[in-house]
Amino acid sequence: MIEKRSLSGLVAVFVCASMGVMAFAEERSPIEPRVPPNERMTARSMKSPIPKTPENIAKGKVIYEGKGSCFRCHGDSGKGDGPYNTLVNLNPSPRDFTNPKFHRNRTDGELFWVLKNGIAGTGMVPAIGGPITEDEAWYVILYERSFEGK
Ligand code: HEC
Repeated sequence: MIEKRSLSGLVAVFVCASMGVMAFAEERSPIEPRVPPNERMTARSMKSPIPKTPENIAKGKVIYEGKGSCFRCHGDSGKGDGPYNTLVNLNPSPRDFTNPKFHRNRTDGELFWVLKNGIAGTGMVPAIGGPITEDEAWYVILYERSFEGK
């Protein structure tokens, strides 16, 4: 009896250890809003001043993969598999920008709010006023949107 139990304990440890190597932590629900209720209406109604053109998306990519450092956590693929996350396995995992549910449940203004304020208690720290300006944030948001469904 005791032997059986310690054997299943061993199996559990083995499964957890191999999951740690193979998988990232889960991303938090993309359905729950991140903007607090008292600021949500204002954030949701903000409109991007930057038109969605291939040139502007390309500008966003340069910021995402460069000075913005977004790729370090979110990955060049947008899936949350960046080099920094591979190293430390952030929990919750950085948002997977290919997830269509995420795009359906957020306006551009809410993404802007996150870039300005970060998300407390997660690896997502404020980017505006740090590595990027407000203007650059709008370009990066265009690029994030382009990952949908990829
Ligand atoms: C140090 C790691 C790290 C870096 C660098 C980083 N992020 Fe994040 N980001 C995260 C994590 C972790 C989350 C998930 C937080 C959550 O689910 O609440 C996240 C979530 C997000 C979200 C989703 C918020 C939502 O409404 O669900 C957006 C948008 C985002 N990041 C954009 C960016 C952009 C743009 C950059 C670059 C300017 C960037 N992030 C840089 C770790 C990072």
